[in-house]
Amino acid sequence: MERVGFLGSNDSASEPNFDPTDPFPIQDCSKSHSAAVDQWLGISAENVERGLLQNRTYSAHSKLDRELWIGTPVQTFQTPYFELRQILETLQPQAGETIVDLGAGYGRLAHVVTRHFPGVFFKGYEFVRERCLEGQAAMARAGLKLAQLENVDVTTLDFSKESAKYYFLYDFGSRVDVETTMENMKRCLSQHSIVVVARGGRSRDVIDKKHLWLSYSVSPLHRAHYSIYRSQPESNEMT
Ligand SMILES: C[S@@+](CC[C@H](N)C(=O)[O-])C[C@H]1O[C@@H](n2cnc3c(N)ncnc32)[C@H](O)[C@@H]1O
Repeated sequence: MERVGFLGSNDSASEPNFDPTDPFPIQDCSKSHSAAVDQWLGISAENVERGLLQNRTYSAHSKLDRELWIGTPVQTFQTPYFELRQILETLQPQAGETIVDLGAGYGRLAHVVTRHFPGVFFKGYEFVRERCLEGQAAMARAGLKLAQLENVDVTTLDFSKESAKYYFLYDFGSRVDVETTMENMKRCLSQHSIVVVARGGRSRDVIDKKHLWLSYSVSPLHRAHYSIYRSQPESNEMT
């Protein structure tokens, strides 16, 4: 099993709940726990976010009905590590399978997947280049060989080229962007056996209202912050 090594300064050890021998525990943790994990991984998200506030390109995007979460606290617009672990333990992805994160932020999910589900591939797509670069650097330092993070606008993704079984989305964009992406996904993947994990109200609302193909065969599993949808049972998969 590929392990995330000890990467940062020892400061994160001052967070009482943080244990570097078990950095992504399954039990609920505080927001400061995720901050300690970021620090341990060497992800300087606060610094990057401060820089983004001055970036005129992104403020222009916000006016064009983009939702890039700039100006939102780091621990609010990202999923806590423990919750990512809980989601993965429910999914139980197998070696050789791929998980895609649509709007991956700093690529937190890659680290949890690698440590707890060896052999599973991770592909993250993130619109904000600076987040992507910071996430890529952390993934390189941790030696994550099966994970990649790309600077891509997911509304332009051609899902017919994706072969992933699992898709994770946490309210990555504006409602229009989420709707566009889900329509693209439906066009290319509705005949495949896929699992979609939607976190946040916007994503779930779009799926619940417009994407019955994701709850037609199997009832969704609803949790407080996320829901898990499946396109159709494996046995019905069409090639
Ligand atoms: C709410 S955050 C979730 C981050 C991560 N998935 C998590 O759960 O921790 C959504 C991310 O999606 C990104 N995003 C927004 N619109 C996007 C788009 N069209 N293509 C790719 N990423 C996008 C944002 O920049 C932000 O980093």
